[in-house]
Amino acid sequence: MIEGTETATGARFPQVRMRRLRAGSTMRRMVRETRLSPDQLILPAFAIAGRDARVPIPSLPGHSRMSPDLVADTARRAFAAGVPAMLLFGVTDHKDAAASAAYEAGGVVQSAVAAIKDAVPEMVVITDVCLCAYTDHGHCGVLVGDRVDNDQSLELLARTAVSHADAGADIVAPSDMMDGRVGAIRAALDAEGHVETTIMAYSAKYASAFYGPFREAAGSAPGFGDRRGYQMDPANGQEAVRETLLDVAEGADMVMVKPAAAYLDVISAVRSATDLPLAAYHVSGEYSMIKAAAERGWLDERLAAMEVLTGIARAGADMVITYYAEDAARWIAEGEVR
Ligand code: PBG
Repeated sequence: MIEGTETATGARFPQVRMRRLRAGSTMRRMVRETRLSPDQLILPAFAIAGRDARVPIPSLPGHSRMSPDLVADTARRAFAAGVPAMLLFGVTDHKDAAASAAYEAGGVVQSAVAAIKDAVPEMVVITDVCLCAYTDHGHCGVLVGDRVDNDQSLELLARTAVSHADAGADIVAPSDMMDGRVGAIRAALDAEGHVETTIMAYSAKYASAFYGPFREAAGSAPGFGDRRGYQMDPANGQEAVRETLLDVAEGADMVMVKPAAAYLDVISAVRSATDLPLAAYHVSGEYSMIKAAAERGWLDERLAAMEVLTGIARAGADMVITYYAEDAARWIAEGEVR
């Protein structure tokens, strides 16, 4: 008989056989540590102007830019599948230096929020608050020379958040990475009477290559340079905790790590550092990679997607923002995904 190494409790092989707990799917169900639930999933969507308009996004298979009426149809379907929340982005051709389309009343995001609230009042509507899809240069704030000016950007971000709350958004989610934006947005919301509007801060948002398909979808790639002057360096983990604690101090109600799959250690560190609800964003490139490999027959899409989403939850995320939200909710409902 082969004797194993003694463990801390003194138990060893063959008394200890870890495989006993893996003997069958029912046993595995009982001892499973992480149970991904549809309640944790948030579905992103891209809103455009018009009616009955749908423009597929080639690099995000299964997703389209949609007019507000079709965003509302998606909301109905997703909510029925068990997804409690959507995260909205706006796509527009009306771009200028001051990102005025970001905060105009009746803008695309504002209209889509109203359409969802009309169709599915119980659905939680989250809006992305950023300027990059509305500036003619594609950066996330106001330019002074070739630099994004932090403090001038705050005012426009706050105005954008207020316009989303005016339209009925339950949660505003600033993704710009300007310093002080959470505090500026909280103050502006409160001043306008939106004391109940929740802030989900993209606290640890990295300058990632995995946003590629999103930038195609939103037409928000920077016209020059990159976002490394405001988004985080992928090499930094400790800094994510500092960023998060600053957002908490400024009044964030929820925090976020983004991307997710390449940043599981960051999710875990942020989880330990704060009690606030924590979201992780499984971003466009992380979704498209699985899609592309599955299309080639290189991966089982369902198993690969569920493994990654479960891993993100296991790392400590309470909520997972994912383009797989609707599919995953159905897969979970269909039973054991393994
Ligand atoms: C806006 C924003 C981006 C994403 C979410 N909000 C793009 C970026 O920062 O360039 C990316 C989401 C995704 O890739 O799915 N600043």
